[in-house]
Amino acid sequence: MHRRIIAPGALAAASLLLAIPASAASYSPGAPGIGDPYYPYYGNGGYDVSHYGLRLRYQPKTDELQGTATIKARTTQDLSSFDLDFLLDVSEVRVNGVKASFTHAEQHELVITPKRPLAKGTPITVEVRYSGVPSTKSAYGFTTWHRTPDGAVAADEPESAWWWFPSNDHPSDKATYDVSVSVPKGTQAISNGALRSVSSKRGWTEYSWRQDRPQATYLATLALGRFDITTSRSGRGVPVINAYSTDLGANDAAARASVERTGEIVDWLSNYFGPYPFATAGGYVPNTTTGYALETQTRVYYSPKQFAKGANPSVVVHELAHQWYGDDVSLKGWKDIWLNEGFATYAQWLWSEHEGQGTTRQLADQVYSAHPADDPFWKVAPGDPGPDDQFDDAVYDRGAAAIQALRDRVGDHAFFRILKGWPKAHAYGNASVADFEKYAEQISGKPLAGLFDAWLYQPVKPAASAARGFAAAGTPLAQPKSWKAVEAAHGGPNR
Ligand code: ARG
Ligand code: ZN
Repeated sequence: MHRRIIAPGALAAASLLLAIPASAASYSPGAPGIGDPYYPYYGNGGYDVSHYGLRLRYQPKTDELQGTATIKARTTQDLSSFDLDFLLDVSEVRVNGVKASFTHAEQHELVITPKRPLAKGTPITVEVRYSGVPSTKSAYGFTTWHRTPDGAVAADEPESAWWWFPSNDHPSDKATYDVSVSVPKGTQAISNGALRSVSSKRGWTEYSWRQDRPQATYLATLALGRFDITTSRSGRGVPVINAYSTDLGANDAAARASVERTGEIVDWLSNYFGPYPFATAGGYVPNTTTGYALETQTRVYYSPKQFAKGANPSVVVHELAHQWYGDDVSLKGWKDIWLNEGFATYAQWLWSEHEGQGTTRQLADQVYSAHPADDPFWKVAPGDPGPDDQFDDAVYDRGAAAIQALRDRVGDHAFFRILKGWPKAHAYGNASVADFEKYAEQISGKPLAGLFDAWLYQPVKPAASAARGFAAAGTPLAQPKSWKAVEAAHGGPNR
């Protein structure tokens, strides 16, 4: 971006003018993007966030959101200024208690210039006071803030934070969260983690939520509206908090019949993936018109449409599998999306087998043989699909078939060790597809580069040699009973 390019001479002149010490010449603006080639301006350079403290007030009638964000971070370079990703109107910014100047720049950049430059390694507290009507704000021509008849919801991937809190919006910078939201009495506010308190005064109710484990920004969620909140515990003791819009109409029974199985499914998944990584689990079903579900951390977002054809535990399995594959272990970059969607889909296949609706073998064979070699399906490489195909069917289905191919190659013993060992190896952190490839080779002791290349990177159908366990082309196959339910959990059309 032009405003970032400062000639060295100009910088020296500026430091003379501002009487900054000569060493300040090394201070420069943090980059407007964190360096993800899929989304050049997502996230920012120069600092690392450890905690977001958000105090918000929302009025459903007008869609007005007011807030103060208190962000704890540490600088990772000498900074003269830095960006947050944010769209609402800012009235004041303080850095370590001192007022800073700020300006909105291209798309979703909020540029903050502290009074004094910040040396590398400095702990900083950034307070941002803001307000606005999120549904009127857009970047790149879209908004992901969904208004509902009784409120609104923030839940989308790869971005949803810009409409409700300023952040370093990239999964590689995870942080803990405290989210306190005041809503008019009778309205509920749902977010991630544990519900710490609910208190009412003068016609407003404040809900305070805490996420005490690192969480990616796109996995932070906020729902405001009229909800029925249910609480329970899984057989193994995981506290479950679910919420259902009181306005789900004909979808209400199927939504509850599915989402109330959260505890049971979390326990079942932990047999494959290891202990559930978070302090609470759950989901919510707001009255939205979008079609997708999203693995928002500990509190999954479900669209009522997921339940329009009856109970759908398969989508619950998909989103809860993400709690390990995506939320506990998050992507290093958006190109690593297979680590999320391939594994969440494979969990649905395991569930299908468990329910007697088709084995993982049958589902993998279905993917392999339903798409002939000239089907454009095979053009999408799950290991690096590109931003436009991040949620393409191939990332899910070819991605899950790739996992079956890995299982065929390394055998069940090593395969299930990999499946359970991976979340532990990168607990609460970030990892890439390349990291997974190395890990699978290390655990299995087998060279796997050729297999991964054929399944994850080549824009063609893997040859028979890379699909040895798969049914040969032309074998007549019956579609597994679970097929449609498995497909229904895909990202679907955007927004
Ligand atoms: N990770 C989500 C899922 O597979 C997909 C979200 C896709 N986003 C979208 N806006 N369609 O559960
Ligand atoms: Zn998914």
